[in-house]
Amino acid sequence: MHFSLLVFACVLCGSTLALNNGLMRTPPMGWLAWERFRCDIDCQNDPKNCISENLFMDMADRLSEDGWRELGYVYINIDDCWSSMERDENGRLQPDPKRFPGGIHKLARYMHDRGLKLGIYGDMGTHTCGGYPGTTLDKIQIDAQTFADWEVDMFKFDGCYSNATEQEQGYPLMSKALNATGRPIGYSCSWPAYVGGLPPKVNYTQLGEICNLWRNYDDIQDSWDSVLNIIDWFFDNQDALQPAAGPGRWNDPDMLIIGDFGLSLDQSRSQMALWSIMAAPLFMSNDLRTISSGAQSILQNKIAIGINQDAMGMAGRRILKEKSGIEVFWRPLSNNASALVFFSRRTDMPYRYTSSLRQLNFTTGSYKIIDVFTGKMASLKDSTDFVVSVNPSGVVMWYVSAPARMNLNHLHIFSYITQR
Ligand code: GLA
Repeated sequence: MHFSLLVFACVLCGSTLALNNGLMRTPPMGWLAWERFRCDIDCQNDPKNCISENLFMDMADRLSEDGWRELGYVYINIDDCWSSMERDENGRLQPDPKRFPGGIHKLARYMHDRGLKLGIYGDMGTHTCGGYPGTTLDKIQIDAQTFADWEVDMFKFDGCYSNATEQEQGYPLMSKALNATGRPIGYSCSWPAYVGGLPPKVNYTQLGEICNLWRNYDDIQDSWDSVLNIIDWFFDNQDALQPAAGPGRWNDPDMLIIGDFGLSLDQSRSQMALWSIMAAPLFMSNDLRTISSGAQSILQNKIAIGINQDAMGMAGRRILKEKSGIEVFWRPLSNNASALVFFSRRTDMPYRYTSSLRQLNFTTGSYKIIDVFTGKMASLKDSTDFVVSVNPSGVVMWYVSAPARMNLNHLHIFSYITQR
């Protein structure tokens, strides 16, 4: 973690090849229907929660009126169960006419009028995971063109009901087909998740050249168990996964479930903190119409978002696993800053963890610290011992600016926010 190494690594990271559509230089942010609203198509009995254009318009209103859009949450993404069971007479996918009477193009316009973007879902295979029409190899071109005609901005390509050979052909073909439409469409690939998520079965160099983001692992569920399982898998495999991420190419540990039913506030902070360390896409799947102010303020934390969206785009790593159950994570940021997360796996009481920046491999100097979730600031010498009190299944997260002697403005993190 010497700064000269960092600078060198940064030059490398800027030069890695990424899908050449110029999109998603920082992890995409927005809202995605699946985890919270699943395949609820019962609009008769559950009109507020069913997968319909009204749900997406409601969420768009919330993103644009409740301060989300300005923070970067601009995608509204449709997931499975949006389409009709049949293609139209020209072989094109079509939305369910009862639930999307206005059609997808009109819905995209609704988003664009509000400074938002629309994402849609399809599946490389005979059917989507929910049993709706899939995109077999022969349908790739027509489906890509349909989405472009509808002025869609992002496309998630799932992988149910196809085999490894079809996936090997289909994911790159769809990338080409989307590019060929001439419309910039962010491309999310579920491919790695269908082949175990790790090399040698997954070639992350190739993925970075064809997809903007990719699901590596299992679906998230509304529970702490699920979040912890995802955290463990990603950091246990960080040697393979961390170098795969960079501007335009991101690992996707799946949606944020903050604001739902399964996480305490401490666990919600942990998800936000570690998704930011991973440089993960921030797609919330929650009900923005009824979200609590506690959950909203975690999701709208400007410093956490600033860390997630850091321009250098280098993902972080777990740097320590203590016997005490404390784990320490570190992510290098632009301007020689970095982020630290102290995470507790304990189940007893807040744990007072003692360390020093020197012990965490920081070079000699005096650093400015901002506590991400309390906003408190402090100066800290590398050699000075500090104590952080970390709640069970919670985190303490720090933004650490460069040593003062490097004469850098420790508040640069806020410039990202004010530019948006
Ligand atoms: C798969 C995906 C999920 C979601 C569902 C929809 O399980 O991994 O994210 O899209 O399909 O059926």
